Amino acid sequence: MSNSKAEKNVGWLIVLTLVAVSIGGIVELFPLVFEQHKTAAIAGLKPYEALDLEGRDIYIREGCHVCHTQMVRTLRSDTARYGPYSVAGEDVYEHPFLWGSKRTGPDLSRVGGRYSDDWHNIHLMDPRSVVPVSNMPAYPWLFENTLSGKDTAKKMSALRKIGVPYTDEQIAAAEAAVAGRTEAEALVSYLQTLGLDRRPVAGSTAGGGR
Ligand code: HEC
Repeated sequence: MSNSKAEKNVGWLIVLTLVAVSIGGIVELFPLVFEQHKTAAIAGLKPYEALDLEGRDIYIREGCHVCHTQMVRTLRSDTARYGPYSVAGEDVYEHPFLWGSKRTGPDLSRVGGRYSDDWHNIHLMDPRSVVPVSNMPAYPWLFENTLSGKDTAKKMSALRKIGVPYTDEQIAAAEAAVAGRTEAEALVSYLQTLGLDRRPVAGSTAGGGR
């Protein structure tokens, strides 16, 4: 059949488009069914603590992921700057994942432990006071808003339903762990989990790159 025939007949166009897209989808998805080590959690991966989980939600609310990626690519320039490249098993408890697609600022997936909490606080309050050329916005309200923790347990239960292994004790203790803390405390605590110490990742030699 010639191209022009398919382009002039909407029915054929729909059918052929579906066939083409399905083949592409199967080629991408099917191998993962057999390569389960790529989709299983890496050894030592822990779900976020209650406060870190709230910090992650603030990260999403404030759009940090619009300027920052959380995926170190396998390129030499990336691994030299940020550390071991990201593997799929690091992100199995991420809902939604925050890989991002634009790096106005640096990748943050290995930023935990690189700076002190104080540095993060000053940087979030006024980025230009520590990095004069920075075009990152200031987030002063994070230091005024406090969290109630009222929804934290519900968020953890919802995540548990889709496979994040929270225990009953963790869920029961969630509100108390969060209540009264500032949004900045939660966000900085979350940022400090991103990386090799508190969220151990398999070395870059381990199987399962993406
Ligand atoms: C408009 C884009 C933009 C947004 C939005 C943004 N940042 Fe940034 N960020 C940058 C740039 C540019 C830098 C590099 C200069 C600097 O350190 O301030 C940076 C640097 C950083 C650094 C230091 C990273 C390193 O390795 O030195 C951290 C941490 C950070 N940002 C966290 C955040 C958080 C948390 C948010 C959301 C509350 C956020 N950023 C929102 C642009 C942005």
